[in-house]
Amino acid sequence: MANSETRSEPISVEAAAALLRAGHLCAFATETVYGLGADATNADAVLSIYETKGRPRFNPLIIHCADLAMAETLALFSPLARRVAALWPAPLTLVLPARPGNGLADVATAGLDSVAIRIPDHPLALALIRATGRPLAAPSANPSGKLSPTTAEQVIAGFGGRVPVLDGGPCNSGVESTILRVNEDGLVQLRAGAMAREDISARLGLPIDVVEEGAAIAAPGMLLSHYAPDAQIRLNTTPRPGEAYLAFGKAEAFDGPMANLSPGGDLREAARNLFAMLHQLDAAGCQTIAVAPVPEHGLGEAINDRLERAAAPRG
Ligand code: TXA
Ligand code: MG
Repeated sequence: MANSETRSEPISVEAAAALLRAGHLCAFATETVYGLGADATNADAVLSIYETKGRPRFNPLIIHCADLAMAETLALFSPLARRVAALWPAPLTLVLPARPGNGLADVATAGLDSVAIRIPDHPLALALIRATGRPLAAPSANPSGKLSPTTAEQVIAGFGGRVPVLDGGPCNSGVESTILRVNEDGLVQLRAGAMAREDISARLGLPIDVVEEGAAIAAPGMLLSHYAPDAQIRLNTTPRPGEAYLAFGKAEAFDGPMANLSPGGDLREAARNLFAMLHQLDAAGCQTIAVAPVPEHGLGEAINDRLERAAAPRG
């Protein structure tokens, strides 16, 4: 993890912002749950989130902004999106089309062409984002598989004091934000959360569709098909003539479109390159991309999870 120093004592907004700008992690209070924050434009910092949480896959993360101006640098806002965004700051996340060239790390958005954004309704969180001057990727600040923390003490205990925490006291709501996807013709709730759908609907005077139970869990999976390359993917293999080749580690020269996730066999470098290289090879127009084996330890588990999804049969 990026910040191996043990510190469980309180830190200031300025100190927390300095850590984040330097590419370290810092947990912070929001009105929903504590978030494990990283500079969303820094791929290495975002990768530290996955390592620290022990997350076996690259879920797309929620990007926290200080104000609408910052949010507009990251996403494209339709008139409908603007109407919903008027509810911010709030425990409400909007999934919007990503603005091309928005500077977000691929590993923060899992390479999708949409982005989940929220402006949290918590003065400390807002002060932190402002002081950092960058959007913050932040999932809940708990080790994977554990409960989301609603106090700084829980964050400190969860990570054994290895992650600094900007302490804002107990969270007001204790459940994660409600996630809405803003389509051209309406709103769809992808995750029920701290803001009731009926309330949002009443305040906007608009209906909100729901993704059915079960399908809600598949929401990020659904979006993966969005991201799935046009080419077929063959895993754990070497390339045949006419294919494109995504290598890992030491690789033979190949007479065709080729990229190497990490010639030195470094999983962190491979994770950083994964989405961009898949896009690059897909753009080369081959029918199939052959992918070399990637070891299953550390970030390799997340890399393989994404590769397997990209290789899964299309619906
Ligand atoms: O309350 C919260 O929302 C907390 C606090 C810290 O703000 N954050 C949180 O973030 O729960 P996170 O990163 O764990 O939420 C990630 C979820 C994904 O599992 C996925 O459901 C959704 O956000 N998501 C992110 N990007 C998406 C996208 N482009 N399309 C659809 N869903 C997306
Ligand atoms: Mg969580």
